[in-house]
Amino acid sequence: MTERRQIRELPDELISQIAAGEVVERPASVVRELVDNALDAGARQIVLRLLAGGVRLIAVEDDGIGIPVADLPLALKRHATSKIGNLQELESVATMGFRGEALAAINSVSDMAIASRTAEQPHAMLLDGRTGEMKPIARAVGTTVEVKELFFSTPARRKFLKTDATELAHCIEAVRRHALARPDVGFAIWHEGKLVEQWRAATDGDDGGMDQRLADVLGEEFCERSVRVDWCSSAQSEGGGPLIRVRGRAGIPDAARARGDHQFAYVNGRFVRDKVLAHGARSAYEDVLHGQRQPVYALYVDMDPTRVDVNVHPTKIEVRFRDSREVHQAVRRAVDQALAAPRAALAQPAPQAPLPGVAAPAPVPMPAWRQPAMAFAEPVAAPAAGFTPWSPAPVPAVAEPMPRWQEAADSAVATLPEPPPAALARAEAPVPQPRATPAPDEAPAWPLGRALAQLQGIYILAENQQGLVVVDMHAAHERIVYERLKAQADDAAMASQPLLIPATFAATPTELAAAEAHADTLAQLGLDVAPFSARTLAVRAVPASLAQGDAVALARSVLAELAQHEASGVVERARNELLATMACHGAVRANRRLTLEEMNGLLRQMEATERSDQCNHGRPTWRQISVRELDQLFLRGR
Ligand SMILES: Nc1ncnc2c1ncn2[C@@H]1O[C@H](COP(=O)(O)OP(=O)(O)O)[C@@H](O)[C@H]1O
Ligand SMILES: [Mg+2]
Repeated sequence: MTERRQIRELPDELISQIAAGEVVERPASVVRELVDNALDAGARQIVLRLLAGGVRLIAVEDDGIGIPVADLPLALKRHATSKIGNLQELESVATMGFRGEALAAINSVSDMAIASRTAEQPHAMLLDGRTGEMKPIARAVGTTVEVKELFFSTPARRKFLKTDATELAHCIEAVRRHALARPDVGFAIWHEGKLVEQWRAATDGDDGGMDQRLADVLGEEFCERSVRVDWCSSAQSEGGGPLIRVRGRAGIPDAARARGDHQFAYVNGRFVRDKVLAHGARSAYEDVLHGQRQPVYALYVDMDPTRVDVNVHPTKIEVRFRDSREVHQAVRRAVDQALAAPRAALAQPAPQAPLPGVAAPAPVPMPAWRQPAMAFAEPVAAPAAGFTPWSPAPVPAVAEPMPRWQEAADSAVATLPEPPPAALARAEAPVPQPRATPAPDEAPAWPLGRALAQLQGIYILAENQQGLVVVDMHAAHERIVYERLKAQADDAAMASQPLLIPATFAATPTELAAAEAHADTLAQLGLDVAPFSARTLAVRAVPASLAQGDAVALARSVLAELAQHEASGVVERARNELLATMACHGAVRANRRLTLEEMNGLLRQMEATERSDQCNHGRPTWRQISVRELDQLFLRGR
């Protein structure tokens, strides 16, 4: 029989050790907590010293405000904190810490000492965490926390630790997460007496040093292969600022990785692992990144602290949003907007003088990271317009008046000869004169340059200021048609064009069923596909912008797609997939001879089309081969 034991209150030490199980998993957890504390104390410079991957020693030294002598013993007490005093403060907490648990927990599973000095004190005091003894020592204003022999008293925990190298890597990762949120603070990490990482404080630029810090921590390549994100919700918070602001950088689809190890998301300066944020970001890549590839990004969400609960998880790595849909949409829109603009324009060398009619974007003031509450009160410039890829200004000077580039693009594409006529033609497009190809000495300022030739019936070769541009013409055109179809479908039901003679075809039972079940969806897509006989379907109308394609092939692909997405709710969500299928039918096929005008028309359309850097399947549509790369190929200038 089980022997009944008396109910007793656990001793404090044991309570702390139990709590430590939640907070302190490995040396990196200690690093995270100590750096949190240093940042909360207003440190500008934080130095870490580690021995044996942090197992033998973790020392974190800061130049923050310090701990007054009288408070020093309290710092090690459970639930003792200087950061909140009541429930209301908990609800709008703006510091990293607030639970008052970390130091007590760490102290219960290690050999700990704190040296600290405030500006008012003539010298520092050293507190021995074991004995509680204090003695004066020499130290500048700030705090050093030393944690020795982690888990020495709990050998079972110590056995779970990995090699020193692995623990060190986790410690560095913990600091990286902090460093990415606080470019204004300098960090240095020493291991076994060697400097292993150092990130200098950076506050320059219109972004408060963020790009510099991202480049320092994640590498230059991260910045080169990502685009700036800066988005504000139009809804206002009670304080008058935007409800949500999303900033940072989002990797271009090309920079995606097999693993999601370069995904950093922050809420009010706190690193979080959050499904809402991750899903919002990933869904912005839906249309440009297919398959299992993981995008890279560093995203900073600033929002009213009362709209997010950070007291969900002992390590505060999880949060709960008051309205998670609102946050999901904000992140999705922010990233989507950043990715949409065609990037050829961004790669252009900066023009000498501002182009007429092109206003330089106003610098967006960067609120202090560590004071999200204040950041909210600050006025924030209007978010950059969603789509300003290349304004009409940079048309090269030519003798004869030239149509604006958009018209030029339309006109050239509209004149593509048959066959296959397909959807290069826009039904509503005017039929103007194709303009002459600019002479070489005009040095066209178009991002994707001037078409030179077609290669193997697949690629368009063009020349721009950087060198050679190679375009996959089907992939590029497919995206253009797709984006156009999406825009049309967004406006209303798509304009439909009846066929003079309905096109009939022998249909499978699946096709017959799909045509019947999804007549409404088909109508919305501009398709009229109706039973003609027991085993025959007739295509009576097709979307106007695809009027010249193969109606039967188009109808069959769409029916096949519909059959896959049975339930109507799913069909609604699959709209973009349906449009993508249609776009493929509308896009120019390989081996189709294009004239230079047509090629130039396609290039101009690419420059004006959102997401045109990737085809509908997430592959790149064009590549730049710079003159320098060509020179290297030919060993020139060596
Ligand atoms: N580096 C530091 N500089 C100044 N004060 C510190 C530092 N580290 C800890 N403290 C003080 O010790 C208290 C307890 O720290 P901690 O156990 O991490 O709890 P919390 O951070 O949740 O308040 C803090 O509230 C703070 O007042
Ligand atoms: Mg803390």
